[in-house]
Amino acid sequence: MKFGVFLPNGSNGYIPSAGSPVYLPTFEHNKHCAIEAEKQGLDFVLSMMKHKGFGGETGYWDSCLESFTLMAAIAAVTKEIGLFPSISLLTQHPAIVARMIATLDDISAGRCGLNVVTGWNRAEYSQMDMWPGESHYERRYELASEYISILKTLWNTGRCTHKSDFFKLDDCSVLPQPKGEIPIVCAGQSPLGRQFVAESADHQFVLTSKSKLVAGVKDIKDRAKKCGRSVGIYALYHLIVEDSDDEAVRIAEHIVQRADKGAISNIIASASLDTNTGGTSGQLKAALEQNIEEGNMAFMGIPVILGSPQTVIKHIQEIRDDSGIDGMLFSWPDFVPGIRRFGQEIKPFISNG
Ligand SMILES: Cc1cc2nc3c(=O)[nH]c(=O)nc-3n(C[C@H](O)[C@H](O)[C@H](O)COP(=O)(O)O)c2cc1C
Repeated sequence: MKFGVFLPNGSNGYIPSAGSPVYLPTFEHNKHCAIEAEKQGLDFVLSMMKHKGFGGETGYWDSCLESFTLMAAIAAVTKEIGLFPSISLLTQHPAIVARMIATLDDISAGRCGLNVVTGWNRAEYSQMDMWPGESHYERRYELASEYISILKTLWNTGRCTHKSDFFKLDDCSVLPQPKGEIPIVCAGQSPLGRQFVAESADHQFVLTSKSKLVAGVKDIKDRAKKCGRSVGIYALYHLIVEDSDDEAVRIAEHIVQRADKGAISNIIASASLDTNTGGTSGQLKAALEQNIEEGNMAFMGIPVILGSPQTVIKHIQEIRDDSGIDGMLFSWPDFVPGIRRFGQEIKPFISNG
């Protein structure tokens, strides 16, 4: 199993609640997370990209460090860990991103991949006049497929000619090429998103409740098989590890009690506009009612694995064995001590699956 860190480059990490640390994102913090993750033998770090936060009393995600510039700096202070910046496809032409990745590939000596974000949240893009119109909700993966095909052509050949509704490139040259393959990851959860992953990506990040994980993994593996491909699957969780199960539950319940209702209602209002159904937007609405382990909205709908180290080890092994996932991606209420504890008290004791 591979393990990764969902870097806290947006304010407050991934918990819209005043019951958990409320902070502004800084390079210093993200650097410490990446260095600690590398020291503990984790496999990769991923930074997200949000162009507009959800406000509320905690200012949830109102600040967000730009993903590529952050990863370039992290590349320079690490040696081994994998690096995944996120690109919001609507904000950058693929020829620019092809070059940004080639640069990061060079800085990191071949450690970078790319997380593809198609954009379900109109407000992030309309504020910059970058929202293509309501058709984008349903055409976003069509655009993503073309985008990836252009990136791959540029990376493989250094040139691309392309003409479509979305992009026009006229014998466009992008050099240097990256030295190796660039793994593409995407966290599309809707049927259209999963089909895109099966056809064009190397890995999927899954955000789903425990009860739906097994079916979700089977669906993506089946879709990929039909395309003659295979896709690695990584599930996203919050980790709350304390000396006892009771203490972990107490901390998680406090986070739910202090949930930032203003931020959560803004998230749901944005998600409700999305007409591409069956994906994250629907899951976020469902998470208003879900319990902590399935993924409550105080945890952004992300399922929580919580308890003593022994309990957490058991749950991680069970999830892996039941679902056949290839890895996990974690967030913590307090990242640096959380990563350290995971590396020292959990990771070495997870059995080989
Ligand atoms: C691990 C992970 C990372 C993600 N990173 C971003 C991101 O950086 N920016 C963003 O707008 N959405 C991000 N998302 C959301 C997804 O990219 C995707 O748009 C969302 O899950 C909606 O899926 P759907 O379009 O298939 O409905 C992320 C989701 C997960 C689980």
